[in-house]
Amino acid sequence: MSGLSRRLILASGLALAACGREPALGQPIAEPPLKSLAPFPIGTCVRAPELADPAYADLAARHFSQLTAEWEMKMEYVVQPDGSFRFDRADAIAAFARQKGMRLFGHTLLWYANEPEGFLKLDESRQSFEGAVRNYVTAMVARYRGLASGWDVVNEPVTENGEGLRESLWSRKLGQTGQFKVAFEAAKAADPAAVLFVNDYHLESRPAKLRRYMQLIEQLLREGVPLGGIGCQTHCWSELPAGSIAATLKALAGFGLPIHLSEMDVSTVQGGMLANRAEAEQRQARLYAEAVEAFAALPERQQFAFTVWGMRDRDSWLKRENAADTPLLFDDLGRPKPAFAAVADGLRRR
Ligand code: XIL
Repeated sequence: MSGLSRRLILASGLALAACGREPALGQPIAEPPLKSLAPFPIGTCVRAPELADPAYADLAARHFSQLTAEWEMKMEYVVQPDGSFRFDRADAIAAFARQKGMRLFGHTLLWYANEPEGFLKLDESRQSFEGAVRNYVTAMVARYRGLASGWDVVNEPVTENGEGLRESLWSRKLGQTGQFKVAFEAAKAADPAAVLFVNDYHLESRPAKLRRYMQLIEQLLREGVPLGGIGCQTHCWSELPAGSIAATLKALAGFGLPIHLSEMDVSTVQGGMLANRAEAEQRQARLYAEAVEAFAALPERQQFAFTVWGMRDRDSWLKRENAADTPLLFDDLGRPKPAFAAVADGLRRR
């Protein structure tokens, strides 16, 4: 029996068992391409060097219709100490997306967590800080115009517990509201067709943070900032109460803008309550099902993309925090897990 057939039977057994339906032994069940089941883009984040691995590249091309650079389109990679920009890896991801007929999603332009030396040491007497930010945003957005469907223009603006907006190099230099105005207007000018997002996390588990995020969105729209979409990262964990994700998407959809469920993963260790791996994976599957069904229930014009933050468990950033974590749709060998079956079933049921 070929490796692939063994994989199909094992994977489908795991998947169907998790959905309460025992597999018909020896009855291989195809691993349907997720993007073939969805009427909206299904995305994942990728890293450029891994695209040289055929197993990684094949999994991305088979199941996904949109790619987000996990970190190579962030300032921490692009902006050099002398203020120059390097695009080699972002270009490699863009080339792969173009070759496979996939959309690219730009992540991210301004982020409190990235304060590169090239900006920190800027000599204000020679070039205004605002001019340097406009230049950077224009260089990034114009470079991928026509391939990037949208951009996270400002990432994670709300403080952890939702009591306000984060302080950062960008807010200090441009003002809390000014940072949005400068970045969004420069991005709009560089690619008028791109959907421009604000993006944040833990909205489904911290009501105060969701409220503050929604207040910010109202403010940006009131002030005429060209905000075109709302990102909900959806980094969560298997003990998240059922219904939290659906309620959050419903609240955010109230603005009538496109929604990007932008970075979903479901930690099976962060909650800390479950000693039982099988139980954690079943709860994980149910949360992925809830998310994809709630996203699919949005009005079509608001379904921007459903993006997971990585493909195989081994690829997840969460592994660096706890090597035992299994947050994604495919196991370390790239075999579909119960979470994959839950997403596929959720897409079929829409
Ligand atoms: C993370 C990446 O996954 C890591 O590889 C990197 O070291 C740090 O950033 N929210 C975001 C993402 O918007 O950009 C973060 O990605 C995860 C949290």
